[in-house]
Amino acid sequence: MHAAVPHLGIDPAWEAGDPAGLAPEHAQHLAELESLDHELAALYRRGAEVLAGAANPAALDQRRAALLGRERGVITLALGDLPGLPLDERKRRGRGLNQVKRWLAEIEAARRSQLEREAEARAATGLDLTLPGRRPWVGRRHVLAQIQGELLDLFHGMGYSVYTSPEVELEPYNFTKLNFPTDHPARDAHDTYFVRPEVLLRTHTSPGWVRAMEERKPPLRRVFPGRVYRAEHVDATHMDQFHQIDGLFVDRDVSLADLKGTLAAFAREIYGAKIRTRLVPVYFPFVEPGAQMDVACVLCGGTGIEHTPAGEKRCVVCKGTGWLEVLGAGMVHPNVFSAVGYDPEEVTGFAFGMGLERIAMLRYGVPEIRLFLENDLRFLSQF
Ligand code: PHE
Repeated sequence: MHAAVPHLGIDPAWEAGDPAGLAPEHAQHLAELESLDHELAALYRRGAEVLAGAANPAALDQRRAALLGRERGVITLALGDLPGLPLDERKRRGRGLNQVKRWLAEIEAARRSQLEREAEARAATGLDLTLPGRRPWVGRRHVLAQIQGELLDLFHGMGYSVYTSPEVELEPYNFTKLNFPTDHPARDAHDTYFVRPEVLLRTHTSPGWVRAMEERKPPLRRVFPGRVYRAEHVDATHMDQFHQIDGLFVDRDVSLADLKGTLAAFAREIYGAKIRTRLVPVYFPFVEPGAQMDVACVLCGGTGIEHTPAGEKRCVVCKGTGWLEVLGAGMVHPNVFSAVGYDPEEVTGFAFGMGLERIAMLRYGVPEIRLFLENDLRFLSQF
């Protein structure tokens, strides 16, 4: 009597495929087994068909385990039954089972590489729906443009509209009408690039006031953003071009208190609600009185002392003074009003001007002004 070959574990629902394409000798193997043992032939036929019919690698794994698995596979179980058989039967069945095992393993390997080739072909046609999409590269505004936008928003909220004026400016607008007397030493601080004797690259955005006032009568509230130029010796904190925003407020009875209130609002917005400020008298030709506004040092908080693990040392940002100069300001000089045809007995006004690079450097701790112009994305993408 033949011992039954267990068919347990081969799911009757598994779809069948055609093994002929995977194993050219399939028909021959089948005929060989038929003459040897019907049951082995049936096992081989069914096994070959379900391996060929596996639709994907996971199904193939499952079927391989059911047929060829080392512990519970059909072949392994049948081999385990051999010792109970008579010697002749044992030899015949043993040899047959080993052939079935080898041939099924070959079909399984052939089907696996066929599935892999199919997957590659699908990917090559661009139809792999599991591939993550390519993100578009998204740019951003330059850090200085961001700060400029923030300031324009702030001043817009206080009633200022934007006035843009030329970067290549006439000498009188940059200097004379702003009450820089010819040959006055105040011009030395504004050493610039001349295009022709009367035409220069503007050294500040203040010439915009003159143009705005010449265009219309008071009252006037304007901000003047833009790029300015100076023939500076370039180093970590000085560039021969940088950016400013000026502000100008002209009306009847404008006072220094109005200026202080405006500058305090600016400082709170940019440096935080708790920031301490002070005005220090300073000379500028176009304002009287003139002042600079300082804010308490952003690094040491105004103490002038930096606490490091190694002990206390002089604050590097404010150089121990506790204060940082952030802008120039003052009451518009009567000579400037006269130069644009306003009556200095009728109107008063204040003005202020600040550098955008300096604001960015203090806010973000940028140690080197040249970084703003180098267009290195490793720097710019941090903001
Ligand atoms: N225009 C001055 C400068 O660039 C700054 C300033 C503006 C000072 C307005 C006073 C009033 O140095």
